[in-house]
Amino acid sequence: VEEIRALRTSHIAEYPDFPVPGVLFRDITPLLRDHAALRAVIRHWISLLPGDIEYVVGTEARGFVLGAPLAYELGAGFIPVRKAGKLPGTPASVSYDLEYGSAVVEIAEGSLPAGARTLVIDDLLATGGTAAATVELVRQFDVDLVGASFLIELEGLGGRDKLPDIPLSVVWSFP
Ligand code: PRP
Ligand code: HPA
Repeated sequence: VEEIRALRTSHIAEYPDFPVPGVLFRDITPLLRDHAALRAVIRHWISLLPGDIEYVVGTEARGFVLGAPLAYELGAGFIPVRKAGKLPGTPASVSYDLEYGSAVVEIAEGSLPAGARTLVIDDLLATGGTAAATVELVRQFDVDLVGASFLIELEGLGGRDKLPDIPLSVVWSFP
């Protein structure tokens, strides 16, 4: 756990005023490029999660990069939530506001069986708009939503207030 704490400082880079003035951007790419560090973080992250997860839902783009190894290690399926216009068929859509800008997320029809033990994940919880929209999409399938989990929480942006009644877990919090 001490090792995981140290990785927050050594493997998350900070960029002031990106992509717009006033945002301190937290960049996960130093973690992604270090196999041993990423492996340790994925293992620790899994120790924070509820058991018997059947599906992991991750949001484009960074939620894919972390969601796929999480699902693989858990023995769960991975379901992508994509930005608008990328999914074939007749996807369900929800629009939401971001810390910078707004967007639409979509999920493919038939993605999740009713009652499936499902976890929503993303790299980062900021204002909570993305996660709340993802939860809204997932709930259309009447799944058993067992939690929402993030590598990083930016506490000052109040994202968790947009996810009431969902068990939350986070690997790293920044004030
Ligand atoms: C970032 C981040 C989360 C979201 C968090 O993604 O990866 O998905 O914003 O912000 P919120 O809590 O205020 O909604 P972004 O939309 O920048 O897309 P990307 O992963 O494709 O870079
Ligand atoms: N850092 C990285 N990604 C983000 C942020 C941030 O501050 N806000 C929304 N996505």
